[in-house]
Amino acid sequence: MKLGFIGAGEMGGAIIRGLLKSGWPKEDIAASVHSQASAERLCAQYGIGAGTDNMQTAKQADVILIAVKPGVVSQVLAEIQPLGAKTVICMALGWTLEKLQAALPGWPVVRIMPNTPLALGEGVTLFAFGESVSAAERQAAESIFARLGKTIELPEALFDAGTAVSGSGPAFVYAFIDALAQAGVKQGLSDEQSLTLALQTVVGAAKMVEHEHIPPAELAQKVATPGGCTAAGMNVLKTTGMDEALAKTIAATVAKAQEFGKK
Ligand SMILES: NC(=O)c1ccc[n+]([C@@H]2O[C@H](COP(=O)([O-])OP(=O)(O)OC[C@H]3O[C@@H](n4cnc5c(N)ncnc54)[C@H](OP(=O)(O)O)[C@@H]3O)[C@@H](O)[C@H]2O)c1
Repeated sequence: MKLGFIGAGEMGGAIIRGLLKSGWPKEDIAASVHSQASAERLCAQYGIGAGTDNMQTAKQADVILIAVKPGVVSQVLAEIQPLGAKTVICMALGWTLEKLQAALPGWPVVRIMPNTPLALGEGVTLFAFGESVSAAERQAAESIFARLGKTIELPEALFDAGTAVSGSGPAFVYAFIDALAQAGVKQGLSDEQSLTLALQTVVGAAKMVEHEHIPPAELAQKVATPGGCTAAGMNVLKTTGMDEALAKTIAATVAKAQEFGKK
C-alpha cells in the first residue's frame, strides 16, 4: 500500500518515523509539504520521496493522509478533489466526517486522532469512518495505525473527549513527569537523578496498570499503606486537588476542540 502524506511536520513526521520503524518500506511512503527546505529535510532524514506538489503525492498514493494544520485542510482538499475518489485519512482537529464529506463528495473519508507516541509504536489512534468507506478500506486504514500502537473506533460525538485524553494527553503526562522531577530536585536530588527516577517510575507504573489488570485507583491504594509515607503524600495529592485540576484540564481541551469543530 502506497501512502501519500500531505503535510509531514510534528504529527505526520511522527507517523512516518513509526511506520519506518515498523518495517514499512520507505519506497511506499511519499510526502508533500509547504516549503522546499522541509521537503529536502524529509528526504534526507527518512529517505522517502518528498516535494511540494500535493496533487503529485495524492496521485501516486493508494491512501492519502492529511497532516496539515486545520486551517490549511480546505485548501488541500480543494487541490486534490479533481483527482477522483480514493481513501483520505484526515487527522486535523475539528475536521468532522461531515466537513470532509462535503469537501470530497463520494470519497471514502476517514477521520482519525493520533498522538505523537506513534513514533515509537506506543500511540493511540481514534477512528471514525465515513459512509462511503468499504469494509476493505476500513481494514486497510486501521492496519496502518495498528502497527503504531492501539486503534479505537469512537462515535464522532466522543471524538473531542478522546482527543483531549489521548491526542493532547502526552503533553499533560510530560508536564506531570516534569513536576514530579522538579519536586524531587526541591528535596535535594540532582536534575538528572530526579528526571531519571520520575521518568522510570511513570514508565513502570504505566506498565503495571497495563499488565496487572487492576484499576489504577486500586493499585494506588495498594502502594499507600495506611499511616505510611505514601499515604501521607496521597492525602496531600487529594486535598490539593489533582483530580479536579485534571478534570478542568480535560474540559478546557474538549471545549477548545469543540470550537475548532464549529469553524
Ligand atoms: N502535533 C500533535 O500532537 C497532533 C496530535 C493529533 C493531531 N494533530 C493534527 O495534525 C495536524 C498537523 O499538526 P502538526 O502539529 O504536525 O503541524 P506542523 O508540525 O505545523 O506540520 C504541518 C505540516 O503541514 C505542511 N504544510 C503546510 N501548508 C501546506 C500545504 N499547503 N500543502 C502541503 N503541506 C503543507 C508543513 O510544511 P512546512 O514544514 O514546509 O511548513 C508541515 O509539514 C493538525 O491538523 C493537528 O490538528 C496533531
